[in-house]
Amino acid sequence: MSYNLLKGKKGIIFGALDEKSIAWKVARRAWEEGARFTLTNTEASIRFGSIADLAEETGSLVIPADATCLEDLENLVLKSMEHLGGKVDFILHSVAMSLNVRKKRDYNDLDYDYLNKTLDISAISFHKLLQTARKLDAINDWGSVVALSYIAAQRTLFGYNDMADAKALLESIARSFGYIYGREKKIRINTVSQSPTPTTAGSGIRDLAGLMDFTERMSPLGNATADECADYCITLFSDLTRKVTMQNLYHDGGFSSMGMSARAMHTYEKGLDCRNSGG
Ligand SMILES: NC(=O)c1ccc[n+]([C@@H]2O[C@H](COP(=O)([O-])OP(=O)(O)OC[C@H]3O[C@@H](n4cnc5c(N)ncnc54)[C@H](O)[C@@H]3O)[C@@H](O)[C@H]2O)c1
Repeated sequence: MSYNLLKGKKGIIFGALDEKSIAWKVARRAWEEGARFTLTNTEASIRFGSIADLAEETGSLVIPADATCLEDLENLVLKSMEHLGGKVDFILHSVAMSLNVRKKRDYNDLDYDYLNKTLDISAISFHKLLQTARKLDAINDWGSVVALSYIAAQRTLFGYNDMADAKALLESIARSFGYIYGREKKIRINTVSQSPTPTTAGSGIRDLAGLMDFTERMSPLGNATADECADYCITLFSDLTRKVTMQNLYHDGGFSSMGMSARAMHTYEKGLDCRNSGG
C-alpha cells in the first residue's frame, strides 16, 4: 500500500545487490511512495548482481561507485544531482563486507589488512559519503540519511567477528556527523539496527539459520524481515520523523530488550534434557 510518504523526494540508494538485499526492498518501497533516486554499487556487484532489473523497474539510473573511494563518491553525488535535477532528500547506506569473515579468520586471529578493509568498507565509507555530500552541499535542509547496523555493535555475538567493531564505528559516525549536519542544515542521521536477515551479507554470519531461530524465539514480535526494514527506513526518510537524529534505532521485534524468553528457555531446556539423557 502506498501513502505517498516520499512524494517529490529524491535520493541515493547504496547496496542493492539482488532481490534479497535490504537496499533492494528500500528502493522498491521508496519508488512506491513516490520518490526518485539513483542506485549505486561497486562495478563487480553491478556485473554479478541484478541491479539492472531494479533500475528498470523503478526507472532509476545506476552509477557505479566503490564506497571507499572519494573520487567515486564525488562523481556519484554530482551525477545524482545532475540526473535528479538538484539536491537529494535522502540517502541509504546499506554497505558491508569483511574479508576476515569471508576467509573464516577468527576474531583472535585477524588479518589486519583485512580488518582495515572491513572498517573502511563497512564504516568509514559512511563518513566519506557524509563528508563528500556536505562539501558538495548535496542534501536539502531537513534531509535524512540512514545506515544499516546490527546489535553486535553493543553485545558480543558468537561469530560476528570484526563486523562488530565496524558497526560500533558506524553508529558513532552517525552520532558525530549527526551533530554537525543537524546544527548546520537540520539534516538527520540515524542507524537502523536490523534483525538477522537472509541476504548475501547475512549469510556470511556464522550459522545464520541457528542465529535466526534463536532471535525469532527471543523476540516478542519475531524477527523483522527485509521488507519490514524497508518500511521503517521509508518512515525515516519521510517528513514524519523530522526530529529523530543521532539515534541507533532497533528494528528487531524487541530482541534488543530481551534477556530470556519462555520460547528460547523451552528450547534450551529440551537441549539440556537431551544431553542429560545421553542424547
Ligand atoms: N543481513 C543481515 O543479517 C543484516 C543485519 C543487520 C544489518 N545488516 C546490514 O545491512 C546492510 C546491507 O546488507 P544486506 O544484508 O542487504 O546484504 P547484501 O549483501 O545484499 O548488501 C551488502 C552490499 O554491500 C555492497 N558493498 C560491498 N562492498 C562495497 C563497496 N566497497 N562499495 C560499495 N558497496 C559495497 C555489496 O555489493 C552489497 O550490495 C549491511 O550494512 C549489513 O551489515 C544486515
